[in-house]
Amino acid sequence: MVAAGRRVWDLPVRIFHWALVAGVLASYVTSRIGPEYFRLHLAAGYLVTVLVAFRLLWGLFGTRHARFASFVRGPRPVLRQASQFLRGQPTRHAGHNPLGALMVLALLASLAAQAVTGLFGNDEIFNVGPLYGWVSDERSLELTAVHKLLFNWIAGAIVIHVVAILAHRLWTRENLVRAMWTGNKPAEVVAGDEAIDSSRLWLALLLLAIVIAALAAAVLLAPEPALSSYE
Ligand code: HEM
Ligand code: HEM
Repeated sequence: MVAAGRRVWDLPVRIFHWALVAGVLASYVTSRIGPEYFRLHLAAGYLVTVLVAFRLLWGLFGTRHARFASFVRGPRPVLRQASQFLRGQPTRHAGHNPLGALMVLALLASLAAQAVTGLFGNDEIFNVGPLYGWVSDERSLELTAVHKLLFNWIAGAIVIHVVAILAHRLWTRENLVRAMWTGNKPAEVVAGDEAIDSSRLWLALLLLAIVIAALAAAVLLAPEPALSSYE
């Protein structure tokens, strides 16, 4: 069945979002169950790395509402939206609203930093990240310290993200989660000329292939670390 409404989120953005949720949860769980499961943490971490790198490119080359240029605004629209919200006049947007856009950027930037610090990190016991060989041991430890600390901020941001979406639901009765699942928002929210007519799937696959190839090259070309326990 084709969901009613007008298409705003292309298929790549929707797959990105729900795969990212799975990848971040898996990264967290696999970091907790013990160093002997590091390979699983690595797999989940690679998933998040590829997704976030893809999404950054998709923010430049993707469809209309996926592009940073369409949703990143200056401080004025953000303050206007916040004051309208406080005065009980919530606004609806075809794509991300100005405040939501700030959270999108914060999540993408912090997850990118989490992925990069993990790739160069080590656990001081047996495990090293696949790019450890590119940096000194001291630098790797510094990056690992950031990796550990930053996750607390990411977890806090995720809680705020989910609470904001649920609050939006109660406040405006608008179902943003359904839109992120089906891709569609009601016609009252999206003008006819704001809807997208294609997901640009071939371009998305090409960008995904470029991201995977770049990561594979960085990992394969990384110098062997001096640790004997590195497999
Ligand atoms: C690990 C947890 C999560 C992370 C890292 C995360 C991250 C993100 C990111 C990066 C975006 C921007 C999407 C894009 O433009 O590509 C987004 C949007 C969104 N997320 Fe999440 N998310 C998480 C969990 C959830 C959950 C559990 C829900 C459901 C309650 C949810 C619902 C949404 C919705 C509805 C949007 C679109 C918001 C809008 O319309 O502006 N997210 N999320
Ligand atoms: C390929 C990418 C990644 C690599 C190579 C990697 C590597 C590592 C390493 C070596 C540790 C051990 C640090 C220690 O316990 O001393 C670690 C811990 C951890 N990682 Fe990752 N990681 C990656 C991605 C991620 C991602 C995407 C997340 C979450 C979004 C994440 C969350 C965590 C957490 C929560 C810990 C535990 C920190 C602590 O012990 O307090 N990692 N990671």
